[in-house]
Amino acid sequence: MRFPDITIAIDGFSSTGKSTLARLIAQHFDFLYLDSGAMYRGVTLFAREQGLIDPDNTIDPALEAALKTLDLHFGQGTVLFMGTRNIEKQIRTMEVSSQVSPIAAVPYVRSYVDRRLHEFSAAGRVVMDGRDIGTTVFPDAEIKIFMTARPEVRAQRRFDELVSKGENPVFEEVMNNLLERDYIDSHRETSPLRRAEDAFELDNSEMGLTDEIAWAEGLIRGKFGLLDAPANNGGKAE
Ligand code: CDP
Repeated sequence: MRFPDITIAIDGFSSTGKSTLARLIAQHFDFLYLDSGAMYRGVTLFAREQGLIDPDNTIDPALEAALKTLDLHFGQGTVLFMGTRNIEKQIRTMEVSSQVSPIAAVPYVRSYVDRRLHEFSAAGRVVMDGRDIGTTVFPDAEIKIFMTARPEVRAQRRFDELVSKGENPVFEEVMNNLLERDYIDSHRETSPLRRAEDAFELDNSEMGLTDEIAWAEGLIRGKFGLLDAPANNGGKAE
């Protein structure tokens, strides 16, 4: 079955599994997946490498002009590149995590990322995850999902993810980083993290991936009145 060209926006707090669900939707229903958080992480890595952010998170206003030279794009599927350099590993470190939310609060950084996301999405069927996709980037997205989960569950997921990537995280630091980012992300002036009024909420604290994809499929099919499709065509596969 082929769904029409639509945009699915997945927003929510850190480490609620947005990217996992987005990837599953992309695979199952043949959508392009775009990770907007990776873009903010890419800008953060760039600012660090250019010496435009201090350890105390003071941002040099020269970052605005420097962004004009920054080429961030996705290649090999969902891998983030800076020019020809694959930066996927560097953007996931705790160092970048600890500076990304102050960077993402800067209005000209948000304009830079929004513009790039719209260029990447021009092709059509897109699932995108982030903090403000359903409210600001794609307010007309046909399907909006807002994800939550208990903080202990989220911190454990992120901790396990960092360990599996060969990092040596401290659980308390991971937890504090999540809570701090949640706070900054939901209290900033420009496009704060919040649930769009028309978003479906999913708390996946106690949910496995099979249940999640079943939930998403129900949502997508229900949205297009496709729940009865097998009965309507005599039960034949399409
Ligand atoms: O994977 P995780 O949930 O830790 O975060 P992410 O999706 O990689 O996003 C990293 C950071 O980028 C967030 O904590 C936000 O500060 C920022 N962000 C944002 O402001 N707006 C978005 N649409 C996506 C991310």
